Amino acid sequence: MWLLFLVLLTLILLYRWYRQSQILENLSDKYVFITGCDTGFGRQLAKQLDHKGMKILAACLTETGAKELKKETSSRLQTVILNVTDSQSVSAAAKWVADIVTDKGLWGLVNNAGILTPVTPNEWLKRDDFRRILDVNILGMIDVTINLLPLIRKSKGRIVNVSSIAGRLAFCSGGYSISKFGVEAFSDNLRRELKLFGVKVSIIAPDFFKTAILNATQIKEHVTNTWKKIPQKLKDAYGEQYYQNYCKFIDDICSRSSTKLTVVTDCMEHALTAVHPWTRYSAGPYAKFLYMPLSYLPTFVADYMLRS
Ligand SMILES: *[C@@H]1O[C@H](CO)[C@@H](O)[C@H](O)[C@H]1NC(C)=O
Ligand SMILES: *[C@@H]1O[C@H](CO)[C@@H](O)[C@H](O)[C@H]1NC(C)=O
Ligand SMILES: *[C@@H]1O[C@H](CO)[C@@H](O)[C@H](O)[C@H]1NC(C)=O
Ligand SMILES: *[C@@H]1O[C@H](CO)[C@@H](O)[C@H](O)[C@H]1NC(C)=O
Repeated sequence: MWLLFLVLLTLILLYRWYRQSQILENLSDKYVFITGCDTGFGRQLAKQLDHKGMKILAACLTETGAKELKKETSSRLQTVILNVTDSQSVSAAAKWVADIVTDKGLWGLVNNAGILTPVTPNEWLKRDDFRRILDVNILGMIDVTINLLPLIRKSKGRIVNVSSIAGRLAFCSGGYSISKFGVEAFSDNLRRELKLFGVKVSIIAPDFFKTAILNATQIKEHVTNTWKKIPQKLKDAYGEQYYQNYCKFIDDICSRSSTKLTVVTDCMEHALTAVHPWTRYSAGPYAKFLYMPLSYLPTFVADYMLRS
């Protein structure tokens, strides 16, 4: 009985391994558009896929970012300046992509541009603090996706979205988690909608990585500035100790961050180049073994674990 079970389990794992190891042919024919290539995951992924021979269309926010990336990549890679919160910039970039890929269509879209701050207790924030994050992380990504969908449908391609483990479990305050829950919702919806066209949508949920946005100094600067600005009444209500503890919480989260960005970009690469991409990738040990399992447990367990 046990033997049969073991044999069955081995067969299933072998099949799973075989299925996920099949990679597409002719990668060098394929165009991939990546947003947020100035730093972090976007930049690492652009270099990685360029190295594999794919044709990378890299969108950067700044000229400097674009120049630096070009220095480290082949002449196949082309860059464009894109500000995802500016709809004119988005449609101009979409037109630029359309002119390059012509009838072949676009194989991959990686929505990676994103911001994190301010991360402070919600009551200390204003409507505009939330608006800015939602603008980049959700509306920007939706705008880019909608503008490029015709080209992706043409090639029965792939959409890869960078969410976060904070998009499964809300453990940090401010707009970030809200935006990433939105990303998950949009991606799940899109995947079901686009099945009809043979387009596959994958979600990547990293935990903590040393990218430009996960910068303890910068996040704490935001917390401190906000703390200085809030009314005295609010300060009295929360107390100095709460503020100190909050800074400690930020340090704690940031100290878990890993420098191995390839853990995440390898998931992205699989989503773009595998014959059978997964719909969801949890990248990093905290995502896989802590936050993901916690998100399936009853809410009171998470409430206890994540209490402030
Ligand atoms: C790959 O490219 C070769 C030569 O261009 C072509 O003959 C072949 O059909 C392509 N394979 C696929 C899966 O598109
Ligand atoms: C991006 O566009 C928005 C809206 O047009 C603008 O407010 C913002 O300053 C732009 N950011 C950059 C870095 O150009
Ligand atoms: C796509 O990635 C952007 C960048 O992080 C991210 O802000 C947006 O949340 C992702 N969109 C989807 C559909 O996952
Ligand atoms: C973190 O942010 C601070 C302040 O903005 C900056 O001086 C520093 O260079 C940043 N560190 C990294 C690793 O990006």
